[in-house]
Amino acid sequence: MKRVVIEGSQWGDEGKGKITDYFSQKAKIVVRFQGGNNAGHTIVFNGQKYALRLIPSGIFHKGTTCVMASGMVINPEAFLEEVEVLKSAGFDTSKLMVSDRASVLFDYHRTLDGANERALDKGKIGTTGRGIGPCYTDKSARIGLRMGDLVNKTTLEKRLKNAVEFKNRELKSFGLEELNFKEVFKKYSALGEKMKPYVTDTATFLQKEVKKGTKILFEGAQGAMLCLTYGTYPYVTCSSPMANSIPLSCGIPCSSIDYVLGIAKAYTTRVGEGPFPTELFGDFADELRERGHEYGTVTKRPRRIGWLDTCVLRHAGAISGISGWAVTLLDVLTGVDEIKVCDKYVYEGKDVYTIPATLEEYEAYEPHYITLKGWKEDISKAKTFEDLPKNAQKYLKTIEKLTGIPIALFSVGPDRKQTVVLTDPFAD
Ligand code: IMP
Repeated sequence: MKRVVIEGSQWGDEGKGKITDYFSQKAKIVVRFQGGNNAGHTIVFNGQKYALRLIPSGIFHKGTTCVMASGMVINPEAFLEEVEVLKSAGFDTSKLMVSDRASVLFDYHRTLDGANERALDKGKIGTTGRGIGPCYTDKSARIGLRMGDLVNKTTLEKRLKNAVEFKNRELKSFGLEELNFKEVFKKYSALGEKMKPYVTDTATFLQKEVKKGTKILFEGAQGAMLCLTYGTYPYVTCSSPMANSIPLSCGIPCSSIDYVLGIAKAYTTRVGEGPFPTELFGDFADELRERGHEYGTVTKRPRRIGWLDTCVLRHAGAISGISGWAVTLLDVLTGVDEIKVCDKYVYEGKDVYTIPATLEEYEAYEPHYITLKGWKEDISKAKTFEDLPKNAQKYLKTIEKLTGIPIALFSVGPDRKQTVVLTDPFAD
């Protein structure tokens, strides 16, 4: 396999960072294809913890090229800060490429993200507040700026003037202070200068590498249920974390994808508002949250906790064509007496196996569970499937059976070494 995708299969925070880091050792190029600094990957190695929001995890491997593709929204200030942190920790950032077609996320996008949320009041989405939605909105409204515009003073001046006019009307409607074009231009033309060494035509670069048969890892952010089209709309992000969006976001042919690794946490979490049929409340949910350190990497918000929902996994699997699962945080379930798995929903007395289009309907779905016996043995040192207690093996087998997709690997702790690979997606 040459081109492998890491896709979150739930509502994000499935532990993609660790799995991406693991496989980026095998790839020559690691690509992020959507989202912005709403994502937060935590990677642990050599006892050190690193948090990345924008830059692909491949940056930790010497010689790996990291690409931030056209489908991303990039806050240049946040990007340059991340570069500085990595540089001062001794990592090489010279092989970092930013697409000239990626969208520029401005300060005013963050301001408007906050204003939109306040205006929605009780109906708020619970965004990360990083300006992601307003930036993608501008892209669709054709008043956004691309990285290629940012690094060219003449285009920047022209396009920014237009954008600021539009944004001032919007800010005014919220009763917020209007932007001073000269100030905004000054700040962003300076940032554009600093971005110059990184900005390039990544689509043409990737097309050539695909043709050559280079091993490429595509690193998804967020999760399938936060997809703008197939997620729990409107409680979603404004891009598609699904593998389907990669060809377009990267400018490569549809046939480029060889293997989609679906990352599924052994239970479910979600941050922000929106439906969550298998959600748990009370002491047990609190206990799992503490054990799994389930607090947002970006916003530090406590994550909502629930049982594993295989309807969600089948939904992601069917749309993205998931080839195998990476089950993460299996160790967090150690010591739980009885583990529940949602195999279907019940709606108006009927069994339902799929995710509906409307929120109102989804909110009325009742989860149906099968109950499995838990395990008490420490699994954190497991090196093979057979090292797992029988009940943990049964849990993984149940996921395979209910989704019809094999387990490719599972993870039993935060360290790189605590990963048991059954099928290597990059193997020939
Ligand atoms: P936005 O992406 O900041 O617009 O937020 C939209 C929704 O996606 C909110 O519910 C966020 O909590 C959620 N979200 C965005 N990024 C992540 C992530 O990396 N992990 C989990 N949830 C996320």
